[in-house]
Amino acid sequence: MSSRAEKDHYIINGGNPLSGEVVIGGAKNAALAIIAASIMTDETVTIENIPDVRDTNVMMEAMEGIGVKIKRVDRHTIEVNGSCVENVNIDTENIRKIRASYYLLGALLGKYCHAEVPLPGGCDIGSRPIDQHVKGFKALGAKVTIERGIMKATAEKLNAAHIYMDVVTVGATINVMLAAVMAEGRTIIENAAKEPHVVDVANFLNSMGANIKGAGTDVIRIRGVSRLHACTYSVIPDQIEAGTFMFAAAITRGDILVKNVIPKHLESISAKLEEIGCDVEEFDDAVRVTANGIIEATHIKTLPYPGYPTDMQPQAGVALALAKGVSTITESIFENRFRYVDELTRMGAHIRVEGNTAIIDGTDGLTGAHISAPDLRAGAALALAALAADGTTIIDDVRFIERGYEDFDQKIRDLGGDIIKTDDVKQEIKRSKFRVV
Ligand code: EPZ
Repeated sequence: MSSRAEKDHYIINGGNPLSGEVVIGGAKNAALAIIAASIMTDETVTIENIPDVRDTNVMMEAMEGIGVKIKRVDRHTIEVNGSCVENVNIDTENIRKIRASYYLLGALLGKYCHAEVPLPGGCDIGSRPIDQHVKGFKALGAKVTIERGIMKATAEKLNAAHIYMDVVTVGATINVMLAAVMAEGRTIIENAAKEPHVVDVANFLNSMGANIKGAGTDVIRIRGVSRLHACTYSVIPDQIEAGTFMFAAAITRGDILVKNVIPKHLESISAKLEEIGCDVEEFDDAVRVTANGIIEATHIKTLPYPGYPTDMQPQAGVALALAKGVSTITESIFENRFRYVDELTRMGAHIRVEGNTAIIDGTDGLTGAHISAPDLRAGAALALAALAADGTTIIDDVRFIERGYEDFDQKIRDLGGDIIKTDDVKQEIKRSKFRVV
């Protein structure tokens, strides 16, 4: 897992349609939970196809901080041994910055009946409560307290429970699964999240010897086992990275073959791309998206899987900002996921946000501007907008993008995009061919 100098700006010269092939990496949101869950056995677990992004590296650093042994076999493969955990109190500065830190709570509670983890951070896209995680842990018999920003969960013993989730939540579904895999008896999770990464975590736990049935439906049944064992597991391809590059073809009027994907996971994204006028061709482990010049207006509402993913909402917002006609996007999962709209407006978009709905009056084209990435997916979407814009765009705070996209700028260059990453914008502008905004 490489460490790179802090280059926090992109300079993008718009106008080139992206075309060619891109290979998708492992799913960040599956990998984060799987890495955390790998410490639930004292044997060595091998995990393949991990994306080399900031969030996965922060998770591994936090685990090493409590004595977990992690061997980097190659950039995307690790061997984890959780037999030497010295304490169950996770406390590294970085861990507060990622949302998935809470998976260490479920993993440590499930294995040791005790865990102390800083409250999660993550993208500022809404209030992001953790009440359903707490509800699940308490139902299994844990005492949960939150003091000085640290969430503590302890139990004499964990016992099976019948848990009804009040909202469909990916994080709490996964976390309760982690805490329940070795709880005595049969735990049932109702109203469970069905995302592909929930299924991937269940499959990983089952390959470690767990007994989980129903993942991918809204009822998950877990029969507690006494221990978990070694396994070798490969993380599924990232549905959202794939969707981002699929929309890159639409936004830049290009033609991209997105390889190493599971087309089934992309169905709602493919359907929307066809609705706005793209051709989408499916292969066994690839999809090809070909734009046809005009982007048609449409209406989108984000929903839990298999609905249109909230993590693909900003990318759709950029495409619809370039559509012929008026579109709407309703964000039903998070309360603050239109932070990209202000930045897009600076590039010439006509978008009005009313409550959790954006009304988008499509325009013929966008122009380059100096903007910043407000969060992970908004940042990626704004980079796609810059690639379609007339002129040069500078994007600050691209570290947000690199939390979840491996080699994002390189993959765009390989598709013909004119993008560089730099820590010195002024110097780069002087030195290069970019037209100053
Ligand atoms: C995961 O976040 C992902 N992050 C998010 O991806 C993704 O947007 C989200 O799931 C929805 O798919 C990771 O997996 C690390 P939730 P999570 O719990 O688990 C409410 C990205 O871009 N809720 O499914 O935090 C919550 O407020 C990131 O990769 C409660 O009310 O999302 C939200 O409205 C951004 N109480 C809804 O549920 C709780 O205890 C869905 O949240 C938990 C959640």
